[in-house]
Amino acid sequence: MTNIVILISGRGSNMQAIVEAAIPEARIAAVIANRADASGLAWAAQRGIATAVLDHKAFDGRDAFDAALAELIDSHAPDLVVLAGFMRILTPGFVNHYAGRLVNIHPSLLPAFTGLHTHERALAEGVKFAGCTVHFVTAELDHGPIIAQAVVPVLEDDTADTLAARILKEEHRLYPEAVRLFAQGRLAIDQGRVRVAKA
Ligand code: GAR
Repeated sequence: MTNIVILISGRGSNMQAIVEAAIPEARIAAVIANRADASGLAWAAQRGIATAVLDHKAFDGRDAFDAALAELIDSHAPDLVVLAGFMRILTPGFVNHYAGRLVNIHPSLLPAFTGLHTHERALAEGVKFAGCTVHFVTAELDHGPIIAQAVVPVLEDDTADTLAARILKEEHRLYPEAVRLFAQGRLAIDQGRVRVAKA
């Protein structure tokens, strides 16, 4: 059984998609947020999942916060840590501690449009396709071996909101699928690239 800790900062719709996928090989050990007002926390608690808040503002710097966060995460003995809209930059020490067992979803076709305001920037560039990426996390923001991607068209009359909604629908399909592959032991990193073993 793959023990999973999910980190969120807000509504946690990707977290919900992963929980609702009910992956037979996975157990959601805890959902942790860095903000007490993250609405996804109540959703998880209602389903009997352990939840916790660790407010980054209560810590003196990133190193102190990340050390406390790692201690809290590790109390749940995770095999996999899933970033699901966790809007904090993580220190290299934290990322290295979870090397090969820390994944993220980003709403762009990486390596394009790392960072914030992804959809606005995609529209400003006039790209014809956009999408989302699930990747292993490395110390560089929104980089790391790519596990899976999904593509959507960009329409003439798209706004950042309509494009985000189209991509989010794909995120909810893609992220559970990537977590399932991990839980089934089918992902391997080989020279910085992810190999997916056949079922
Ligand atoms: C998602 O669109 C996710 O891809 C994005 O934040 C949203 C969180 O939504 N993540 C990032 O931009 C990370 N760089 P959710 O809380 O409903 O899952």
